[in-house]
Amino acid sequence: TRVYVRGLGGERPAVPVAPERLQAAAQAKLGAADFAYIAGGAGAERTMRANLAAFERVRLLPRRLSGSRERDLGVELLGQTLAAPLLLAPIGVLEAAHPEADLAVARAAAAENVPFIFSSQASVPMESCAAAMGDSPRWFQLYWGTDDEVTRSFVRRAEACGAGAIVLTLDTTLLGWRPRDLDLGSLPFLRGRGIAQYLSDPVFRSRLDQALPAPAVQPPRTPALLRAGAELAARGRRFGLSLEQMQAAAARFTATYTRPDLGWDDVSRLREWTGLPILLKGILHPDDAREAASRGVNGLIVSNHGGRQIDGEVGALDALPGVVAAAGDLPVLLDSGVRTGSDVAKALALGARAVLLGRPYAYGLAIAGETGVREVIQNVLAEFDLTLGLLGVRAARDLGPQHLAPPTPST
Ligand code: FNR
Repeated sequence: TRVYVRGLGGERPAVPVAPERLQAAAQAKLGAADFAYIAGGAGAERTMRANLAAFERVRLLPRRLSGSRERDLGVELLGQTLAAPLLLAPIGVLEAAHPEADLAVARAAAAENVPFIFSSQASVPMESCAAAMGDSPRWFQLYWGTDDEVTRSFVRRAEACGAGAIVLTLDTTLLGWRPRDLDLGSLPFLRGRGIAQYLSDPVFRSRLDQALPAPAVQPPRTPALLRAGAELAARGRRFGLSLEQMQAAAARFTATYTRPDLGWDDVSRLREWTGLPILLKGILHPDDAREAASRGVNGLIVSNHGGRQIDGEVGALDALPGVVAAAGDLPVLLDSGVRTGSDVAKALALGARAVLLGRPYAYGLAIAGETGVREVIQNVLAEFDLTLGLLGVRAARDLGPQHLAPPTPST
């Protein structure tokens, strides 16, 4: 009701409620390359569409005359109670959406009491975001590159920042094939975007006067890249780095941030490095869920990275039941295609403990900064609350297969 009344009171919402109009409003606000980076997917974007189609196919089945005046949205996760089954997904290069980037998202997440997962490819160092969040929950998402000491340093910093968990992303050991970015010739990292965690890292910085490890991807000296020099220099000043150091940093980042041969034994090593809960992000195959359980991790995130990595892979929601069945006692979270409160209910009914919201909050950020992110969160949670009430479900944790219609042959 609060969300309806907000409009009646003459208080104009900052962002459109409907997902399509939210995306369109962000597109109108952003330059072509920035919008392409956020909105785009891998290849022909079939996985991106599959994520949404999977949510279309699942249908809720309400019970009548069993609703309640108050609903309890809380869920248990890693020994804590989350106020709602929603977290903000790690999204890199948020400066593509708004100059305040991660900082605005951190403030919004804290104000709405929703955990924010800091990205390894953030535009603001994790320490600054943590400082902006007070005691509010935050996690850290790790990309494991070729330099183990940098990886360990990230983990130590996350611990010092009060992160409640480490999310190891497994689906981006190589950068996906992204035609929208390729057509526009845009790779934000070469302009020094999205590398703030590295620029602020003592171990990474200590490497800047060393020769690049092989295989190094050396950026070509094209006119566009030389023009990007001004942007690089400006970013470097914020971190006390000269243009030459920034060029070395961007090249080193590009050469080292992914590790195609990351393996299960690395998960076991991470387990030894930290006492924080570890969640593996990007699990789609039930056998990977079983392997994860045997490696002592604390949770799984079913995700295909929003369809940005493999074109033609399974829609995330379609993969959820198989992973849940194989995960045993491990809590399973999901992202990739969550757009509305009704989507949250569907994911929970299929066995997810909570979901991660991705692109929609980046669009809110693009349109109206911190306020935009807050409204997107409020809208999703308000619709989720309403959906529970109308389904006749008193508490989010009670959602289950009994709230789903059996699939019909035509769907
Ligand atoms: C991402 N995602 C992502 N994931 C991650 O683990 N680390 C990261 O740095 C990023 N960066 C990133 C940038 C952008 C622009 C997008 C859109 C996504 C993936 C993200 O965490 C999540 O899996 C997807 O956003 C889910 O898909 P939808 O629901 O946003 O379509």
